[in-house]
This record gives sequence, C-alpha cells and structure tokens, in this order.
Amino acid sequence: MKYQIIRNEKYDFAGQSYASIYPNLHKYPATMLPQIGIELFKELNLKQGKMLDPYCGSGSSFAVGLESGLQEMYGYDINPLAVLISKAKFTKVDLEKVKSAKQYLRNEVFDFIKDEENLRSVKPPDIYNIDFWFSKQVLQRLAVLKNFIEKIDHNIQGLFLVALSETIRDCSYTRNNEFKLYRMKSEDVLNFNPDVFGVYFEKLNKVSDIYQYCYYPKINGAKIEINYNAFPAKENYFDVVLTSPPYGDSKTTVAYGQFSMFSNEWLGIGYARQIDNYLMGGKKVKEIYNEGLIADYIWEIEKISPKRALEISSFYEDLNYSIEDVAKSVKKGGKIIYVVGNRRVKDVQLPTDQFIAEKFEANGFSHLFTYERLLGSKSMPLKNSPSNKVGESRATMNKEYLVVCEKNKQSKN
Ligand SMILES: C[S@@+](CC[C@H](N)C(=O)[O-])C[C@H]1O[C@@H](n2cnc3c(N)ncnc32)[C@H](O)[C@@H]1O
Repeated sequence: MKYQIIRNEKYDFAGQSYASIYPNLHKYPATMLPQIGIELFKELNLKQGKMLDPYCGSGSSFAVGLESGLQEMYGYDINPLAVLISKAKFTKVDLEKVKSAKQYLRNEVFDFIKDEENLRSVKPPDIYNIDFWFSKQVLQRLAVLKNFIEKIDHNIQGLFLVALSETIRDCSYTRNNEFKLYRMKSEDVLNFNPDVFGVYFEKLNKVSDIYQYCYYPKINGAKIEINYNAFPAKENYFDVVLTSPPYGDSKTTVAYGQFSMFSNEWLGIGYARQIDNYLMGGKKVKEIYNEGLIADYIWEIEKISPKRALEISSFYEDLNYSIEDVAKSVKKGGKIIYVVGNRRVKDVQLPTDQFIAEKFEANGFSHLFTYERLLGSKSMPLKNSPSNKVGESRATMNKEYLVVCEKNKQSKN
C-alpha cells in the first residue's frame, strides 16, 4: 500500500478551542475539536445516515453529527464519567423540569443544613483512603448534595451529577489543573476550605445554562444513544464512524481512569480504580505484537525496554481487534474517520495513523487520505513525508492525523 500524508492547514483551526463552538459542561482529557469533524463531513458530503463513535469520551463527535444534520448516532465508552458527560450534553430533557428541580435542590439542601445534626447524619460513600483526598467538612457537604440529587427524576439527573462531579474534583485536595491525581502540598491543604455548596450551585447554573443555550436547541429530534460498555459489532449497520481513539494505554498516556476516579467512585462505580486496566492497552500481554508495519517499530523499542514493548503491543492488539469489529459494522460505501496522535516511546515515533489505515485496508476498506494538522496555534517547520524507516522519526509531536477510509462496495463482510 502506498501511504501518503497530506499536510492540510485548513484543519489546524489555529487559535480555536473546543469551547469556540460547543462550550464544555465538564473537563475531559484529550477532547477532539468538533471543528475538524464538521469540516471533514462537509468535504466528504456526509449529511445523513447512522454515525458511530466507539470511544466517544465527552461526545464531541455528536456535536459534529448534529452540526452536519445527522439524525441517528451511537456512542460507547468504558469510562462511566465519559458517558455521564456525553449523555448530559446530548439528551433532550424538559427545561421546565430542570428549573424546578434546581429550585427544589436548593431549598432542600439549605433547609437540611440549618440543623448541624443533620449534616453529621449523612454518610459519604465508602471510598478507600478518602480522608487523604477530602476534608471531613467537604465530605459531609458532598454527601448531602448527592443524597438530594438522587431524589431528582432520573431523566434529568445527568446535569445535576455533572455539576457534582466537577465540584468533587474542585473541593478535593487534588491539584486541580492536572489530569492525574496529585495531592496539594501540606501547607496548601491546611488553608484549603472550599465552600462546597457555593461551588456546586454556581457550577449547576453554568452547566444548565450551557446545556439550555448551546446543546438543547441543536438536538431537536435526533436519536443519540450512548452506552458505557465496549462497542459491540453490528454487521453492515453504520454509514460513518467518527472517533478519536486513545493514543496509547491509559497508564502511560492519558490517564482517563485516574482523572475520573473520584467522580466514578461517588457515582457508585465499584470498579472505578480499575478502569485504566479495562481501557485499550490496559491488559498485560506476553508477546510482542508482530503483524504489519508497526511490528518493526515495536521491536526497535524492545531493544531498549522489553517491558515498554509489551505494553505497546497490548495497545495495538486491542486497537486491531476493535478495528475488525468497527470494519464489520460499517455499510459498504460507508466511511471511517479516525483522529489520532502518534506517540513517541523511547525516541521511536509510532505511526498509529498508518497502522489504522493498514488495518482498515486489511478489513475491506480503501484508504482515501490522511491529513496532518498542527495542534495548538504555533506554526513550526515540518518534515513532510514519512521515511517509514524504523527508528527514524517524522516531525515530532504537536500533530494530529485525520485518517479517512471507505468500505469497498465489493467487500466480503
Ligand atoms: C481521546 S478520548 C475520546 C475523546 C472524545 N472524542 C472527546 O472529545 O471527548 C478516548 C476515549 O476512549 C475511551 N476508551 C479507551 N478504551 C476504550 C475501549 N476499549 N472501549 C471504549 N472506550 C474506550 C476512553 O475512556 C476515552 O474516553
């Protein structure tokens, strides 16, 4: 296969952020810019049909679908927090009910805490080492909020839980501007005394306003179904797949599980601490992944670190299986768009974009093109065409690849 990458400046969206068109309801790591998908859908003339995102995270692909006029979309993610955020953004709820539930919550909470005894009577969830991360006062207040949120109609609870999840993180002893969990310095812990209810109700107002003005008007009658499990194959079902898969295993790249741990624990997810093990590349393998072009790169890493080579093998093995399932599930003539970054391990840059194109080609697709875009707003000198010699890098980091393939009309699957 002759693989080509096209540098396409149009897709840099210099200076733009996710929030430029769809403000966030909740932080999430490694979100995809919806602008990328919106532009690609225009270029590929995609306006209808069923869309799939097998790793939907906080749901930017659904924003793309809505902007492009799609009426049916399906998303999957193993991380319950991701599903909570996506569902809250893209489920149509009754705004009047939300308004009165907000009022109810405020009244109930402030009434309840008038009596100090009440505060002491509410039990926080049973979380390992919880006192290391939260003060007693914060725990009590979070528990009160959770207690009353649970009494709200399940159909509208998502927005309330999203605001709670951000409050949990902001009122914990974690250093808040990092995705991984690190505790504040001891002197900062002593001075840390957040106003939990103040933080929560401010967030709730922000979340419900953003939902009402930016998401709600766009959803209309579209069907958007989001599930928290791995994507199950469904033969010849989807017209288009738009996704940004993880760049590598969670533990050594973006720690989705760790980022989401407190929220998932407060949501009652028993396996909250194991999530990174369930995500792509999270399980241990005993052999080097030895198929196709990526194998040479992994062997190169193996010379320096056999352990890292096995971790990387686990990721590509999972990605390969998942691509087989996705490939099967796309209709003939359907398209896939994968937005991906190529990570560098032990100074070897792994061509994940090319791996994806190669695997789709092995599963009845033709590679249409791969665009290269720059991340962030800085422009920098580029080496353009990849040499594909093992160990020799393409230009480093700060780039993303948009891989587009089409399922062959005569494909066997
Ligand atoms: C790059 S993020 C997606 C971000 C998303 N496009 C957004 O804008 O928020 C990758 C997602 O893949 C999820 N993930 C990893 N392994 C998975 C698997 N095996 N099945 C489903 N989701 C998985 C992670 O939880 C994470 O949310």
